[in-house]
Amino acid sequence: MTFISLADYQLPLYEGDFEMERGVPERVRELQRLFAEHEALLIASPEHNGGYTASLKNAIDWISRPRESGEPGVLLFARKVAAVVSASPGPMGGLRSMLGMRGVLEKLGAIVIPQGFSLGAAHLAFTKDGNLADAKADAEVRAVGAGLVGVTRQLSSR
Ligand SMILES: Cc1cc2nc3c(=O)[nH]c(=O)nc-3n(C[C@H](O)[C@H](O)[C@H](O)COP(=O)(O)O)c2cc1C
Repeated sequence: MTFISLADYQLPLYEGDFEMERGVPERVRELQRLFAEHEALLIASPEHNGGYTASLKNAIDWISRPRESGEPGVLLFARKVAAVVSASPGPMGGLRSMLGMRGVLEKLGAIVIPQGFSLGAAHLAFTKDGNLADAKADAEVRAVGAGLVGVTRQLSSR
């Protein structure tokens, strides 16, 4: 399992002319390699103005570009099992960002599991050691992870 924080990547904004003139950045190549090594994807995002964040969509756009081998980057999403969770300080917990991201992943051919979780009042939800204070929220988000692992195992055993 690999944890990726997009804050560590600082990718340039995807733009066709940039790609043509300077190629795909090495940091994107690293993400493409990581995606190739994993069967499942769990995306966790805050919400910006009713949608998922621009940096998340930018990363997905870059990763979907052709790989060094020439293989389409979209294949890094196709048939991958995916789940989406969100968090925000508002009462809806970024629910709209989660729904929008599900649509993007489905367009790319990922198998998005039905379970999801939105954490409202996220700025108050964690203890000092980084755990969720509410046992029900903790169980719900763990159920998303368990659902992701379960579907991935079922598909890879076929
Ligand atoms: C430009 C901007 C727009 C935002 N729009 C929403 C929104 O529509 N709904 C929402 O629940 N939170 C919204 N927020 C709050 C974010 O979901 C989030 O809590 C904040 O960016 C901190 O995220 P972080 O803790 O991952 O850094 C917005 C924040 C920013 C900066």
